[in-house]
Amino acid sequence: MIRSPWPLSDLRIAVGRWELRLPDERELGEFARSVAGEYNASVPAQSKADDSPDERARRVMQDHWRTRSEWSPEFWKLDLFAFEDGRVLGQQRLIGEHFAVLGEVTTGSVLRPDRRGAGIGTAMRAAILHLAFEELGALWANTGAEPGNAASLGVTAKFGYEPNGHRRMNMHGTVLDTAIFRLSAQRWRDWAAAFDVEVTGLDGLHALFGAKALRPA
Ligand SMILES: CC(C)(COP(=O)(O)OP(=O)(O)OC[C@H]1O[C@@H](n2cnc3c(N)ncnc32)[C@H](O)[C@@H]1OP(=O)(O)O)[C@@H](O)C(=O)NCCC(=O)NCCS
Repeated sequence: MIRSPWPLSDLRIAVGRWELRLPDERELGEFARSVAGEYNASVPAQSKADDSPDERARRVMQDHWRTRSEWSPEFWKLDLFAFEDGRVLGQQRLIGEHFAVLGEVTTGSVLRPDRRGAGIGTAMRAAILHLAFEELGALWANTGAEPGNAASLGVTAKFGYEPNGHRRMNMHGTVLDTAIFRLSAQRWRDWAAAFDVEVTGLDGLHALFGAKALRPA
């Protein structure tokens, strides 16, 4: 097998029986199709109510490709996917803007509809927060959810985040009202022992994130 020269291709996060990594084209397509029938105001690629399923699937794929093509240490979007026995389950995003200066990240996630409500969203969040706090040295993690999104709020509630106000956004002509939460590195550590997470394939890549290596390679 030919190794991809894209430096994030070897990144793996193991959490429970799940693995987070980049998807290949077939896996990305399978995920895109699984969420294509679903309008979701708070997920940018799915937030146009009048999109057809084909258009929505295409947006999901383009949205992922952009995260790779537009990557820079000043503004990056790490778009990992969770797998179980090689089957794609969901998308877990970690965003860093001026991370070298601010030490802040933002998370967002979407699971395929038939795998929700079984703890996978919680495991994905634990995995990506571990990467942010324990491997990249983040100081703060932000997240947001519509007030009616019980599953997203439910995941957030499990990690000790504190409320940090509201944001109103214009999403294709309708108002998206989002409750914002933030979690400090200290509060994360008070809680983090509950999940066993292992990160591999990150050696030599910290500068890509605007981060410093926290342990010797
Ligand atoms: C949000 C999402 C990623 C959460 O993942 P999940 O695997 O469904 O969530 P979990 O099973 O880990 O649930 C965590 C907690 O949330 C709550 N919860 C989950 N689903 C719920 C539901 N349908 N109704 C009420 N509470 C719910 C529960 O408190 C649960 O904890 P418990 O199982 O100990 O009771 C997933 O539901 C999803 O993809 N939703 C659609 C996309 C989306 O809205 N993304 C967020 C955009 S802001």
